[in-house]
Amino acid sequence: MNKMTVPEIMEMKKRGDKVVMVTAYDAGTARIVDDAGVDIILVGDSLGNVIQGMPNTLSVTVDEMVYHTKLVSRGAQNAHICADMPFMSYQLSTQEAVKNASRFIKESGAGSVKLETTEDFLDTIYEIQKIGIPVMGHIGLRPQDVHKMGGYKIQGRDKDDAQKLKELAKKAEDAGAYAIVIESIPRRLAAEITDSIRIPTIGIGAGPECDGQVLVINDLVGLSPEPMPKFVKKYANVRETMENATKDFISEVRQGTFPAEAHSYD
Ligand code: KIV
Repeated sequence: MNKMTVPEIMEMKKRGDKVVMVTAYDAGTARIVDDAGVDIILVGDSLGNVIQGMPNTLSVTVDEMVYHTKLVSRGAQNAHICADMPFMSYQLSTQEAVKNASRFIKESGAGSVKLETTEDFLDTIYEIQKIGIPVMGHIGLRPQDVHKMGGYKIQGRDKDDAQKLKELAKKAEDAGAYAIVIESIPRRLAAEITDSIRIPTIGIGAGPECDGQVLVINDLVGLSPEPMPKFVKKYANVRETMENATKDFISEVRQGTFPAEAHSYD
């Protein structure tokens, strides 16, 4: 298999093929999800919550994102790699945004960047994609705006907000985004947005009518602590498996049954 490209991802919508994206933050996990066959690996700024143990994504830096994207690039052969632009990497000026976006391409092996999208960042999307860096938009719940939004709340519930989100998705497409993450909005609104634009919508908490789906890998495999958001489906319980394995190790070391003959050198 060859590396998944941006034009191929865009073609998937035309063919009616679902786009599958998961997050990863290190080479080992990237290798596993790549072998499993995902289309896109997102090096999300969820790094802040998932890896760094922070309450939100706001403290994640460009240097940290570049470092983790490098690790993921090393592990993934086939999946397209999209790097999240962290808080304050694109908000101050378009010029700085372009410069920071270019670091992901030049230094870390990403094939595109993602940025949380409002009306204020449409020019930023345009300028980044203009120099040849594909941009994924991100609308609906935008975790970098957690303080402004007053928490992680479902967006687009009232008529005006829903209309604004529809218009924003279209404007992101017109600005040159190649795909758009839609986070935590009502299913029907996500379906309408998906029907109204030509670029793939990748949903998280946005229902099944989106052109693709994304989940944070730690949530998907059951490594994240409970409670998890309603939209997460836990496909495994790796947290329990790891805890039980560690308990078994503790117990065998304490009893002197590990290491056994088979684990010892003559
Ligand atoms: O940072 C992240 O992991 C994300 C996904 C949840 C879409 O933005």
